[in-house]
Amino acid sequence: MKFTFVTLFKNLIDGYFQDSILKRAIESSIIEVGYLNPRDFSNSRHKKVDDAAVGGGAGMVMNPQPLFEALNYLKTSDQDIHIVFLTPVAKQFNQKDAKRLAKKKHIAFVSGRYEGIDERVVEKYADEVFSIGDYILTGGELASLVVCDAVSRNVNGVLGNSDSLMIESFESELLEAPSFSKPQNYENNYVPSEYLKGNHSKIRLLKLALSEGKTKFFRPEQLLKHKTRKSYEK
Ligand code: ADE
Repeated sequence: MKFTFVTLFKNLIDGYFQDSILKRAIESSIIEVGYLNPRDFSNSRHKKVDDAAVGGGAGMVMNPQPLFEALNYLKTSDQDIHIVFLTPVAKQFNQKDAKRLAKKKHIAFVSGRYEGIDERVVEKYADEVFSIGDYILTGGELASLVVCDAVSRNVNGVLGNSDSLMIESFESELLEAPSFSKPQNYENNYVPSEYLKGNHSKIRLLKLALSEGKTKFFRPEQLLKHKTRKSYEK
């Protein structure tokens, strides 16, 4: 699977792929990462990519011309490309989106800087638009990395143990049960003893209870969804 980051600031992104799981995925050719700088497509004398907002308002907006040409170039070089824009003004990205997007062959992430991107670019080229949460970042690069990471780990072969994908938070409405490692007693803080006794049906029940407790505390609306679905399934 290929990811192309359309960004003015490649350096903000590429360090993330220099280590750990995604580095290995690139080395084993499971994923491929490329970059395209809209500035390289600017036809202005000084390679300008932004301008004051028409109609007033604070800050600069990314011009249509460099982005139209960059995205047109991408679309003509790969007709299967799926173009995703990152902006705070959009539907919030979630785990279902991550799983769905993991089936695509090639995704381009378009990151805005300054006050955003001229809306005509989004209208013409966006297959999807995502926000990663209700806060404003200085640009879309971090958001595109968040989406790319969440998608990548659902691509076959990226995670060593695909079992870990089955029981994660957000695969059901419940948050995942807490995990522990060795030692059993660390400075008088104990791993729940049931985890150690090897009775798997008891461990499953305990984990379910702990999941429900965590969900009730952190995400009560999710627990309600879970209970409603369960009562329909009865
Ligand atoms: N760009 C700036 N803030 C953002 C956010 N919350 N989500 C996606 N893109 C953004």
